[in-house]
Amino acid sequence: MTLGSFAYEGGILCAGGVPLAPLAERYGTPLYVYDFDAIAARYEAFSRALGDQPHRICYAVKANSNLALLARLARLGSGFDIVSGGELARVLAAGGDPAKIVFSGVGKSTAELKAALDANIGCFNVESEPELWRLAALAEAAGVEAPVSLRVNPDVDPKTHPYISTGLKDNKFGLAVDQAAALYPRLAAHPGLRPVGIDFHIGSQLTTLEPFIDALRRVLALVDQLEADGLTLSHIDVGGGLGVRYDDEAPPSAAAYAAGLKGALQGRPQTLVLEPGRWLVAESGALLTTVEYEKHHEGKRFLIVDAAMTELLRPALYDAWHPIVPLTEPAADAEGTPADVVGPVCESSDVLGRDRPLAVGEGDGLAILGAGAYGFGMASNYNTRNRPAEVLLEAGQAHLVRRRERYEDQFALESLALPGGE
Ligand code: LLP
Repeated sequence: MTLGSFAYEGGILCAGGVPLAPLAERYGTPLYVYDFDAIAARYEAFSRALGDQPHRICYAVKANSNLALLARLARLGSGFDIVSGGELARVLAAGGDPAKIVFSGVGKSTAELKAALDANIGCFNVESEPELWRLAALAEAAGVEAPVSLRVNPDVDPKTHPYISTGLKDNKFGLAVDQAAALYPRLAAHPGLRPVGIDFHIGSQLTTLEPFIDALRRVLALVDQLEADGLTLSHIDVGGGLGVRYDDEAPPSAAAYAAGLKGALQGRPQTLVLEPGRWLVAESGALLTTVEYEKHHEGKRFLIVDAAMTELLRPALYDAWHPIVPLTEPAADAEGTPADVVGPVCESSDVLGRDRPLAVGEGDGLAILGAGAYGFGMASNYNTRNRPAEVLLEAGQAHLVRRRERYEDQFALESLALPGGE
């Protein structure tokens, strides 16, 4: 199967009309390819679905933080959800508007809080009481008021993989509803803090609407209670988490998601803030790889490719399924013996796909689809592998937006430090 903007045209796998094999040839593999036109179309569709509901889309940078992508999303008017000082630096370097930044995360350091205060970001999504008072002290010392949202943990089961569930009460994320209710009046009274919103994020790759709506209803009950007590918030941030199709999942459409959220809001005037990551970028990216060896062992077939868990960790970490398709369309009746597609890394979990009936062999190119989100961002240098190049396609043009790492890049920060040495 193909996915998103990746489709065969005249037997050649293309993205947005651009053939992929020549890119693999030119830039080498493994290689990430992103179709920005498809991402822009999704951004616009998401925004359109929200229609006249005042809203702000804050792209979750962790899904794919390439600067060229961030710069283009900023131009479309996107805000950004960040979780570290590094992501803040990326958004600023890409020309993002600080006023449209929301800063999430359970463990923001003093340095990160200060950097975000200096940058004058739009909102701190605070996740604990100690974090709140640390932020208050820093803001007061700087003579500013930090805009604050409390992250509420609505205790809703998102029915997704346990590693990417975040809204249950035994997760490390957010504050219980009661705790948040008690904190709002206290923070409102503090000279260093200004309550502007409330937020939640219950998990990622959600394929049903109900958990989002349940969570929103619980949070709205608190918003109403605060309002009755005279505290009005200007925005409600529903986090990210909208799922995509990798295999046979049938996640709600953007239109259904938006309609569900708007239905629950019942005309409340607050700005709806959304933090989609995966939904915007996953299906518009692929990881291209080449078969190094075909190996038969104990009756099993392996395709050993030049990409690995170091470039796409999702299958190893979450047992995630990604489509793997040849760069040249196989004949309709061509079906290979099922093979495990594995990388060269010295870990048994270094599997990219199991039992794939791929009619390919040594030297053939493959595309692992759905790799636009949480691909490069979770890549590592394990086994001293260079992280791949990234190519962004836009209006039929291919732009190299990150060159492949070199070994010197990896060594640059190390020192031999031999006794008596230089
Ligand atoms: N907002 C917050 C506070 C988050 O923690 C996340 C993701 C998002 C937004 C974006 O969620 P999305 O729309 O992308 O589902 N590495 C995992 C996903 C981890 C997501 C962590 N938080 C994976 O590859 O599936």
